[in-house]
Amino acid sequence: MKKNNNFLLTSVAANNLQIGLFRYSIKPEKKFLSFNKTFLDLTGHSQITLLGKDFDILFSSQSDKNIFFKLLNRGGPVRLFHTKPKNKNNWLAISAAIIYSENNQKIIEGVIQDISHQKKMHDHIFIEKHFLENLLDNLPDAVYFKDIESRIIKANRFYIQGTGLSKEEIMGKTDFDFFSIEQAQEMFNDDQQVINEGKPLVGKIERTVLSNGQKNQVITTKIPMRDKQGKIIGTMGITRDMTAHANLEEEKFSMMINTLEVLGKALELRDPYTFNHTRFVSKIAQNIASELKWDAHKLLGIKLAGELHDLGKIAIPIDILNRPGKLSDLEYNLIKEHSQSCYELMKDFAFPFPLAQAVYQHHERIDGTGYPQGLKKKEIITEAKVLAVSDVLEAMTSHRPYREALGIGVAKEELKKGKGSKYDSEIVDIAIKLIEKNNNKIFWKN
Ligand SMILES: [Fe+2]
Ligand SMILES: [Fe+2]
Repeated sequence: MKKNNNFLLTSVAANNLQIGLFRYSIKPEKKFLSFNKTFLDLTGHSQITLLGKDFDILFSSQSDKNIFFKLLNRGGPVRLFHTKPKNKNNWLAISAAIIYSENNQKIIEGVIQDISHQKKMHDHIFIEKHFLENLLDNLPDAVYFKDIESRIIKANRFYIQGTGLSKEEIMGKTDFDFFSIEQAQEMFNDDQQVINEGKPLVGKIERTVLSNGQKNQVITTKIPMRDKQGKIIGTMGITRDMTAHANLEEEKFSMMINTLEVLGKALELRDPYTFNHTRFVSKIAQNIASELKWDAHKLLGIKLAGELHDLGKIAIPIDILNRPGKLSDLEYNLIKEHSQSCYELMKDFAFPFPLAQAVYQHHERIDGTGYPQGLKKKEIITEAKVLAVSDVLEAMTSHRPYREALGIGVAKEELKKGKGSKYDSEIVDIAIKLIEKNNNKIFWKN
């Protein structure tokens, strides 16, 4: 009988490793010679099921396997080859090399590590970048990002076309390359003011003369760009040519909305769950607001407030936001800061509706048990009360990385239970009416 003893490494060191160790014999016979427990966990096998299996178990596709062996047979080691094992839906990185034992046995010796998390992050970032670039390039405004010294580090298509340079040529340029010294100096001063004060400069009207002599009237908004720690690392600007337009106020208004939408998409897309959540909250809130017979301006206000209400979460590390299981008090307090940081971001935009206050107060409850200020009843504006009900309804009926969706029945119960204590009675009644009108189904994804 053919001997097929495989050997599980059981030393404390081997078993406490986060990486899987293996030795696989290619010649004379094909079999795993030794491995540790992590190797079994990562490949979805037990010591028994691994018996008689060959190296195929590390690849879900034949072409991956072929490429891996091509690399391996070149000689030196293969480093961090990405693969999906046959039995499991995780991503692995294999690092391995061929060695020969004393009795001339040909062996692959290597390690595997789980890279599912990194892979997911990488895919998120890719999607985020793609969406953001698409969005920026389709805007009819010039959008540009500058570093702390006011050098361009990124610009959208509209901006690049205006300069007559290529995407590559524009990097590192400053306004001094495109405008007169006086004009560029003023723009530089504005950038520095935004950086030093940490506050946006909203709707500044400028007359510009381009290098070809063309005179324009433009309106510009600049906001500080921050890194994860909140440190200012530059500015984002958005400029609209309004030479041909007469209505200043309207232009200013629609540009502020553009700025906020860019911000919303650019920053929320790092977390697709929050992004979808905000879109649905916005829809629920708009439906409730229509029932309240709000006018067009207020409807636009609640639409934006819904879309932007969780924008403050950009400052929170993704793994805290989406982590399954209980959060520590410290982590929970960090999450709670999002209404405050969102308010900080929006308070300087002069809208004809209380956008900043609405997002600031969306976690307040009318009995005073909410946050961040513990406001009560009439101290909370109606817009925030609409957001609160919409937020709870969406959050409870949607799947989150840390729990399954609780269902519309549970959400309805929560609203009924909190009616008049946590949530505004009239708004709860409207929300329930809307759900029941839609046969007790979600009405915001129609
Ligand atoms: Fe929130
Ligand atoms: Fe929310």
